[in-house]
Amino acid sequence: MQHERVLVLDFGGQYNQLIARRVRDLKVYCDLKPCDMTVEEIRAYDPIGIIFTGGPNSVYDAVSPRIDPAVLSLGIPVLGICYGCQLIAFTLGGKVEHAVQSEYGKREFSFIRRSPLSEGIPEKSVCWMSHTDHVTRVPDGFEVLASTESCPVTVYGSREKKIYGVQFHPEVVHSQYGNTMLENFLYEVCGAKGDWTMGGFVEEQVAALRQKLAGKKVLCAMSGGVDSAVAATLVHRAVGSSLTCVFVDHGLLRKGESEEVMSVFRDRLGMNLVRADAGERFLTALAGVSEPETKRKIIGAEFIRVFEQEAKKIGAVDFLVQGTIYPDVIESGKDKSAVIKSHHNVGGLPSVVDFKEIVEPLRDLFKDEVRRVGTELGLPDSVVQRQPFPGPGLAIRIMGEVTREKLQTLRDADFIFREEVAKAGLNREIWQYFAVITNSKTVGVQGDFRTYENVIALRAVTSVDAMTADWARIPYDVLETISTRITNEVPHANRIVYDITSKPPATIEWE
Ligand code: XMP
Repeated sequence: MQHERVLVLDFGGQYNQLIARRVRDLKVYCDLKPCDMTVEEIRAYDPIGIIFTGGPNSVYDAVSPRIDPAVLSLGIPVLGICYGCQLIAFTLGGKVEHAVQSEYGKREFSFIRRSPLSEGIPEKSVCWMSHTDHVTRVPDGFEVLASTESCPVTVYGSREKKIYGVQFHPEVVHSQYGNTMLENFLYEVCGAKGDWTMGGFVEEQVAALRQKLAGKKVLCAMSGGVDSAVAATLVHRAVGSSLTCVFVDHGLLRKGESEEVMSVFRDRLGMNLVRADAGERFLTALAGVSEPETKRKIIGAEFIRVFEQEAKKIGAVDFLVQGTIYPDVIESGKDKSAVIKSHHNVGGLPSVVDFKEIVEPLRDLFKDEVRRVGTELGLPDSVVQRQPFPGPGLAIRIMGEVTREKLQTLRDADFIFREEVAKAGLNREIWQYFAVITNSKTVGVQGDFRTYENVIALRAVTSVDAMTADWARIPYDVLETISTRITNEVPHANRIVYDITSKPPATIEWE
């Protein structure tokens, strides 16, 4: 079935994917396409509406992206946001000028005239601005619909032409009724029915992947994490046994995780999944190493070597699947600031695999959308709602040298911690929670005997993006149960401490 769809034309602004995501959340399928799409291509795409995004340029720059005026007379509704709003005015003979002062942040705006775009929005509300240029005169046949104190044309449009411009960013959460405005554009102006769901996304992706990958050899590296798991499952749904997944088990996963990967993906979903059981190899490589960065580097390099060996056994493939998601795409485009920790992920793999092309089916999605796709594909919550877990695994939660005995103690303690947090119903509100085995031993007394055993630290944080974090206020009685259970049930642990440091100054992980 062909869904109704909206075309989001990308003029280079930083929130473009966010606009696409908001449209999808409002149950209308959309694609983000380059702004130089021709009128013929647009007509062939057959959108119910077009959104011009913001962008860093001024319409007066010689190199700034323009639009063929014919796009505005196709009879297809158009919404221009920020640069897009200025571009429409400029193209149709209105006036755009440099503002005396750039406007950034929250502003109150008021509607002067009502239009389908303002349905359900009060006369005054807060919007979020980020611009230097603004429209000072609207084109003939258009009306000014709203303004702020310093931006006379905040919203303008023509009911008859179904073309509107908004100077602010309705897609960001700081714009109070921004989402309502996008909803109004889709439903009141474009007449959307709202026929798109996550199930629709899965269906379409599977069909597109099937077409692209049919009869080809496909390889995917699975880490046990959400993104690679969902990407692999999606591709598996499309091409079945043409996909081989390699799971490098570095022996540093949490209790039960490696077994779960095998049972969900190989046994339940029937994937062609190869486990490279490399625990011994990683332990040997890590023997005698205590320095955190050295540990991280050894694990990263070893991971690539193990994967390379497995990939060689499989031979040349046509496609390599990667679980890249949209935040990774932005991340990799940014300058890297000071290296606090060398992060390990599967980014280095393409260099050791003989393949023709990379497929990244989740490239346009945000994390919560990826989780929803996973659920739609029937993956269990334990996979889909998995908390973030570092690539180097438990090695960076074991202070000092990584040994088999410490790994065992940590796994058992961490399992109890996770179990009790889930039992207390705190697992969704806490961003990350895990145990750490410190490099200290202390004296204790158990059953009239002196003990000299490990100190286990509990780390639990709340966060939205892991850039900053606060320690979670886990109720004392829950902490008490955890402490009692660990000291009773886990050998070689006789003291439990709770980490009460925020990030900064600490980091979430201890190494
Ligand atoms: P820190 O410890 O720097 O961690 O506050 C921030 C977030 O990143 C996770 N983390 C990693 N994730 N590879 C990853 O994929 C890594 O090497 C890595 N190191 C830390 C950490 O668990 C937290 O969520």
